[in-house]
Amino acid sequence: MTFVALVSPLFGGRQLTLAASTLRSGLRFSVRPLKGQSVRLGLHNLKKPSFVRADIAQKVASMDSTSDRRFLVCPFSAQKVASQLTRGRNFEKSKTFLLEFEAGPGVLTQKLLNTGAHVIALESNKSFLPNLESLKKEFESQLEVVHSNFVKLDTNPYALLKGELCSETLFNNLKIFEVPWTSDVPLKVVGIVPPKNERTFIWKFTYFLYECSSIYNYGRIELNLFVSERMYKVFVAKPPDKKCYQPLSVLWQTACDIHLLHKIPCSSFLTTSRKKSSGSNSVNELLYLVQLTPRKDLFTDFLTTANSKTFIMMVKQCFGKASIKLHNKLNLWTYENAKNLLRELGIPEDVTAGGLYPEAYKSLFELMEQSNRIDRSLFCDIDLLADDNVIL
Ligand SMILES: *[C@@H]1O[C@H](CO)[C@@H](O)[C@H](O)[C@H]1NC(C)=O
Repeated sequence: MTFVALVSPLFGGRQLTLAASTLRSGLRFSVRPLKGQSVRLGLHNLKKPSFVRADIAQKVASMDSTSDRRFLVCPFSAQKVASQLTRGRNFEKSKTFLLEFEAGPGVLTQKLLNTGAHVIALESNKSFLPNLESLKKEFESQLEVVHSNFVKLDTNPYALLKGELCSETLFNNLKIFEVPWTSDVPLKVVGIVPPKNERTFIWKFTYFLYECSSIYNYGRIELNLFVSERMYKVFVAKPPDKKCYQPLSVLWQTACDIHLLHKIPCSSFLTTSRKKSSGSNSVNELLYLVQLTPRKDLFTDFLTTANSKTFIMMVKQCFGKASIKLHNKLNLWTYENAKNLLRELGIPEDVTAGGLYPEAYKSLFELMEQSNRIDRSLFCDIDLLADDNVIL
């Protein structure tokens, strides 16, 4: 399948041919195809659903339910999101870009443009490109529309060879240049994470972030993601929350400042995927807009982009059986008696993985690195890509 990017001034007037990226075979999705078209208009319970334009509702209605997409269509919610994302910034002066992925009908895009921001709208479905392009009539110099699937961006290591769009090409074309990690946020990304692939998406960006690869190669990119309530709770969970506290909590709290910007009722969205009618009342369900801003001081002398994968592995293994005492697991990782390490940091010896705070994980890792006490022979063969198999 070959996708063609729209001709735009930033792309030098060239017609770029961008192929759809295929997923790396190692990634496994739990997508169960649903047959037939099923669209739930979350709006049917509202008294005034008039804010959904008929052509947009029609487009979404004609989408296959397996496409698993949500579209923010409520202008009031979109307005609120736009002002939250742009608050305190003079976009006409600052060079910050806003990248909106899976922009769909462009309801949020328009609100973002109204603030004066420069917006790059990425959309994977060609059917929506005319909607987005039409915004150019009013916002010619502020808007770039790119036909591309952000959710799959950089998943294929052979993308360049195969002529597929990767972040490097994208950012080059948009003239977004890398800045030092400690500089201001060079790009804000906003979008709705596909509900079925939420964890895969988040794990992928966990690795990108810790390796400073993909978008993070350009600096401290801020993600503003619409996620489920469950995922939000995971992001912010702390001990002793047994239900939600897990490796992703440790890794994201270590790496980012996390803010909840907004809770938006599902009635503000159109959705193509029918949830299994498992009792959850979707009308009252909320999507959480969470802001993840990488910390300037994430990387240190002892936690670097070169050893950060080891840190991720360590955290994941510690949570393997959450009830086992941490020192038993650490003993697999270090030449040193793990109890001594814990004692050095003033951590109780009998702590379990679920009882240790994110900051303590980082300190522990740094202490082991500092004194060269990590036994690397243990994990050189472990497949680091098999993360989406982590079970909640
Ligand atoms: C793209 O949108 C059109 C129209 O809404 C729909 O018919 C089509 O199935 C969508 N394509 C994908 C890949 O979802």
